[in-house]
Amino acid sequence: MLIRRPPDIPASEITGESLYQNRRAWLSTAGVTLAGLALPARARAWGGDDKLTPYDVVTTYNNYDEFGTGKDEPAKHAGGLKTKPWMVTVEGDVKKKGSIYLDDLLKGIPLVDRTYRMRCVEAWSMVIPWNGIMLGDLIRKLEPGTKAKYVEFTTLLDPKQMPGQESGVLGWPYVEALRIDEAMHPLALLTTGVYGKPLPNQNGAPIRLTVPWKYGFKGGKSIVRIRFLETQPRTTWNIAAPQEYGFLGNVNPNVSHPRWTQKEERRLGEFFKRPTLMFNGYADQVGQLYTGLDLKANF
Ligand code: MTE
Repeated sequence: MLIRRPPDIPASEITGESLYQNRRAWLSTAGVTLAGLALPARARAWGGDDKLTPYDVVTTYNNYDEFGTGKDEPAKHAGGLKTKPWMVTVEGDVKKKGSIYLDDLLKGIPLVDRTYRMRCVEAWSMVIPWNGIMLGDLIRKLEPGTKAKYVEFTTLLDPKQMPGQESGVLGWPYVEALRIDEAMHPLALLTTGVYGKPLPNQNGAPIRLTVPWKYGFKGGKSIVRIRFLETQPRTTWNIAAPQEYGFLGNVNPNVSHPRWTQKEERRLGEFFKRPTLMFNGYADQVGQLYTGLDLKANF
């Protein structure tokens, strides 16, 4: 696996970060309120030495196996994916069922602007300024029934547009899921943008799941189906390697992975490794979701 070290990242890549910071400063002086800024400070706070990962790194070092397994392949091959118009099908124990254009699905839901630490099971991490909606806002709008205990997210299945689906590296389509109480947590997002720009295809356009206290594999990309289920669904990586990828996928430095240490991580663009934090540093906010659960058995 390739890890980009500081000398590989040209100074020009830093520009994306400073431009974005300036844009944020401009927005606040102009009196524009982003919905995300109205959230409790904790929800958007991140550690003092966590610098934003440059835009060019966020959008060229990706995992999106539908476009190839190399980190640089999604950026090279995902450009042709047609993301407009985009239909999403809502199924299961939910009132507002059916297929709906993405714009209509999201209509009326406030946009939020959140910077999150993101930790991949492969022991690299980034700090990414996402734009999107709170998943809980969408779930409330869809009105799930009382039997809905899990929410499942399915990626587009279209081998013509997604050549990686011709290969057997994973079972397709890519499926991920959350317990409904996790999905309702205010940190869980469906993202449609990054750095204030529309989400590039390689990052999961037009809409992807973003759950910062879980490993990156939980964040299914280019979602076409949302199902509300009574029983826990099977998920792609859990089927592929159940001993390596649990259903919960919570970042946990105390549960080792057979191939990568989970005790520490390399922040892309940094040389020295840093310790990995419980729930990726969001324990204060999400710890109560798992009270009483054996997190070694339920990884
Ligand atoms: N979603 C789909 N459909 N296919 C994938 O291969 N990879 C996952 C996740 N979502 C993946 C996916 C993994 S392993 C990670 S780490 C994140 O996407 C990476 O997201 P990023 O490329 O935007 O950083």
